[in-house]
Amino acid sequence: MLITFEGIDGAGKSTQVKKLKKYLMEKGHDVITLREPGGTVVAEKIRDLLLESKHDITPVGELLLFSASRAELVQNVILPELKRNKVVILDRFYDSTTAYQGYGRGLELQLLQQINAIASFGLQPDCTFFLDISPEDALIRKFSEKSLPLAFEESELDRMESSGLAFYQKVRKGYMKLLENNERFVLLNAGDEPQAIHDRIIQKLASLCKNTASTEPAKNRKQ
Ligand SMILES: Nc1ncnc2c1ncn2[C@@H]1O[C@H](COP(=O)(O)OP(=O)(O)O)[C@@H](O)[C@H]1O
Ligand SMILES: [Mg+2]
Repeated sequence: MLITFEGIDGAGKSTQVKKLKKYLMEKGHDVITLREPGGTVVAEKIRDLLLESKHDITPVGELLLFSASRAELVQNVILPELKRNKVVILDRFYDSTTAYQGYGRGLELQLLQQINAIASFGLQPDCTFFLDISPEDALIRKFSEKSLPLAFEESELDRMESSGLAFYQKVRKGYMKLLENNERFVLLNAGDEPQAIHDRIIQKLASLCKNTASTEPAKNRKQ
């Protein structure tokens, strides 16, 4: 089973991934958690390139680097782990590409769909949890997380984080579009208490498993 988490930085993805992993492991499931970009030696190097604020990267270059990192992770780690019947929890997947590089940077959505399908080998998540937060609230969380003063240095943020509030508004709208068009998406209010969000996630997964009556690895389906 492949479960993905989406949402802008500060939404609470890492927090929920950690909680869900603990819960499922206690239930006796074999669980692996991964985050994009990264997860293999090459993918981590690409991650550094993408997030280091000193690099200027074109939107298309950014798209292809994220996609290259994804292809490495999917082929070398995710597909083999799914074959071993592991529950794979992924912090970001190609929906991030659609939201950030598509809606955020303005790249053509149809083209993105094709690139996403190539980079993920047609793999589709069984369930995608979208943690929704306003970019302003997310930024406030980031300030307190990094103990930044209100007048902070740009260099304290990574390359994606320094893209500005208007960019993140577009990304958020993109996620909302994805949510409207994909049944696998589950909307979560990121402003709720972490435990309440976690409970809702468990509830959703329980009903999903009841409906499919199986935790078999996701088949290669089209997006
Ligand atoms: N539901 C929540 N309510 C309030 N604060 C939260 C919540 N979830 C996470 N946080 C805090 O917000 C910050 C960002 O959370 P994190 O899980 O790292 O988000 P992400 O991985 O999406 O960037 C952290 O300081 C975390 O403790
Ligand atoms: Mg995180």
